[in-house]
Amino acid sequence: MRDLAPGEVVAGRFTVQRFLARGGMGGVYAATDGDSGNAVALKILEEVEDGPLGRRRFFNEAAMCSTLDHPNVVRVLDFGADGPRAWIAMELLEGETLHRYLKRNGRLPVEVALACAARIAEGLGAAHAKGFVHRDLKPSNIFVVGEDAGTPVLKLLDFGLAKRTDRDIDLTVTGTFLGSPRYMSPEQIKGQEIGPPSDVYNVGLVLWRMVVGKDLFDRPEASAILVAHVTEKPPRLGEVAPDLASHRDLEWLLRTCLAKPPDERFTDMRELVEAMDIVRRRANGEAVGIPERTLRGERPVFPTVSRDQRPWLVAAAVMVGLAGVSVVGVALVLLGFLLGRV
Ligand SMILES: Nc1ncnc2c1ncn2[C@@H]1O[C@H](COP(=O)(O)OP(=O)(O)O)[C@@H](O)[C@H]1O
Ligand SMILES: [Mg+2]
Repeated sequence: MRDLAPGEVVAGRFTVQRFLARGGMGGVYAATDGDSGNAVALKILEEVEDGPLGRRRFFNEAAMCSTLDHPNVVRVLDFGADGPRAWIAMELLEGETLHRYLKRNGRLPVEVALACAARIAEGLGAAHAKGFVHRDLKPSNIFVVGEDAGTPVLKLLDFGLAKRTDRDIDLTVTGTFLGSPRYMSPEQIKGQEIGPPSDVYNVGLVLWRMVVGKDLFDRPEASAILVAHVTEKPPRLGEVAPDLASHRDLEWLLRTCLAKPPDERFTDMRELVEAMDIVRRRANGEAVGIPERTLRGERPVFPTVSRDQRPWLVAAAVMVGLAGVSVVGVALVLLGFLLGRV
């Protein structure tokens, strides 16, 4: 596809000012909206590039995103078609993607990363409340528009793979593989039902990237990454970032986001944001526990236990362990006895 040149007019209305980025479906440009006089970001899809299904997906993104009004989600202003060219006009953001920001800054301090992840979760929560999931959350689809007291201010972009949870149509089932292997949930890889927990998994992946400084399952082969998402437990934090080895609350939070079965993750963004807030406060020395309802199923339980209960828990664990050992010992003696008699 030919890039649009500065001065070119789209839909008789938008004058292209400059090229911003080349995405998966077309170009993104800074442009002036002749109707309002405002500067906008114009995302363009040329039909030749992706066929009619691509166009449906493109308008799907525009239609869903334009229903959102949230400080952490890019604002869609208008959308339409101009011959074979489809366009989405958005608020023009100044800054860089979180992907580039992290490349420049490396790891983020845990508290900063938790604050960022909470804002991302809130933006996604707004989408879930409108009945759709993002499905393509990754650092290159998150934009850093500035900093507030050292914490990046973030906006979610690119609802191009978003899917309504109340309808059956899935515009991504085309035989082509959409999404980035590094940022896909197990159920997405397996082609199963996708709901808000899939986005929870991706928030876990982004948080991992921010605190560890590397993607979870950072491998050269896409197939190895996909297999790992489906089958491999994430390493312990201390193995990949020794200074985080003692941060057990953060480990619990990440593990709960990154559980393979969707129903073992935080059930929704509200629960996740609440957990992040509690982890942050506990890191600051506040004696708060994790609410019981956050601790269903197989989730690790250590953060619920307040400090004064811990010695009892340890004693109980030791006793259970000893009991187990003696049961096994007795069984072995019996077995030896029986075998000896045969
Ligand atoms: N509203 C915007 N303001 C400024 N830059 C944007 C805006 N929207 C997208 N971009 C830039 O364009 C890139 C591609 O946009 P994105 O919506 O992610 O499209 P794609 O589906 O092609 O990945 C982004 O990574 C970002 O750099
Ligand atoms: Mg993108």
